[in-house]
Amino acid sequence: MLRFLTAGESHGKNLTVIVEGIPANLPITEEFIERHMARRQVGYGRGGRMQIEKDRAEILAGVRHGLTIGSPISMLVVNRDFTTGKGPDGVPWMDEMSVAPSDVPFETITSIRPGHADTPGIAKYMQDDARNILERSSARESAARVAAGALAQRFLEEFGIEVHGHVLCIGGVHAKPSDSVDWNALEESPYHRENTEGSKMAAVRCADPEAAERMIVEIDAAREAGDSVGGIIEIVATGAPIGLGSHIQWDRKLTSKLAAAVMSINAVKGVEFGAGFAQADMRGSQVHDVVKPLDEWERAADERIVRPWPRRSNNSGGLEGGMTTGEPLVVRAIVKPIATIMNGLETVDLATGGFVERAHFERSDITFVPTCAVIGEAMVALTLADAMLEKFGGDHIEETKRNWRSYMATTLPRGL
Ligand SMILES: Cc1cc2nc3c(=O)[nH]c(=O)nc-3n(C[C@H](O)[C@H](O)[C@H](O)COP(=O)(O)O)c2cc1C
Repeated sequence: MLRFLTAGESHGKNLTVIVEGIPANLPITEEFIERHMARRQVGYGRGGRMQIEKDRAEILAGVRHGLTIGSPISMLVVNRDFTTGKGPDGVPWMDEMSVAPSDVPFETITSIRPGHADTPGIAKYMQDDARNILERSSARESAARVAAGALAQRFLEEFGIEVHGHVLCIGGVHAKPSDSVDWNALEESPYHRENTEGSKMAAVRCADPEAAERMIVEIDAAREAGDSVGGIIEIVATGAPIGLGSHIQWDRKLTSKLAAAVMSINAVKGVEFGAGFAQADMRGSQVHDVVKPLDEWERAADERIVRPWPRRSNNSGGLEGGMTTGEPLVVRAIVKPIATIMNGLETVDLATGGFVERAHFERSDITFVPTCAVIGEAMVALTLADAMLEKFGGDHIEETKRNWRSYMATTLPRGL
């Protein structure tokens, strides 16, 4: 079993994460994790915070001489904002977010922001300052998840499993449907464009260049109007073996675990698999993915079957009865538009309940859909790694691999 816990506030000293369950002897470097963290930070429409932070996860425990040792892996991500400061005057957050009581005066946030955790949070936790809620509900926490997700990605690589995320829609602009994405090309996005500071940014993580350009125009228009936009992300995982998860109990279905993991990402408001909601308009004969006969199965040079029970289509998104089918796993999520908008929604004061013309404005993005695709990869990778460990166990990576290989040999038709 793989599990992880994060801690840390958005403008606190740092974020921490503890990941438990990664078997011993898995090669891992801080550079590998850093590459994933850097991918979380780019995206057209992100705000000034991304210019301040250059995320790096320092491994504090669980790794020795480049290999995991089977103990919990703890990582530290420093919030540079804590010391480098906010706003044009560069006032650091050190006093405002001080752990010890501080005499330095600071602004209390009382004009609660609709669409955030502020209102239920201040009521539930009996707070007079919405900062005590927003600091933890901020998606800054996702940096720690991406660090944990990188460990899961490294583990999955050992089994030939890849997890990639991309953007299908921003602000009502949809990418052309496509059966395959060139993930390398997407990473070195030919649609990079100069941001206002002149640095290169992987613009919108969209594989359709024409739609990508229109998405950028839409983001600019929302910025101009003091507004925000949402969109749709898709996560695709290839190489997962048939039979991860289980049909036998509601909480063992991989479908429900994946849905929960992706829904846990801030601002995600819906999840679908494969043909998803469109299945409502299709007939059964169009939806279900028939299995190819044996003579059509792909074989390696030595005649070994590459993948058992392949399908003619993949409308199920690689999941039937809560288990993987061996086809690519396809998960999509809709991401709501950012709640903190420049033009500010009307609200109320948390002390008096009285009308306030504009909700508190905290430095904010116009959209973060491209970043959500990277966080989605992390959450899917962590869920898949957990499912692999549940199925194959192993205290060291060689043991996990041995169990996986011997299982795969049993998944072929009985008569072979
Ligand atoms: C990567 C990322 C960045 C985000 N940045 C912002 C932001 O700048 N401003 C904002 O209002 N919301 C932002 N959000 C969304 C809020 O964190 C989220 O809407 C809020 O915590 C309320 O949670 P809920 O939308 O899941 O109900 C971001 C979300 C993600 C995933």
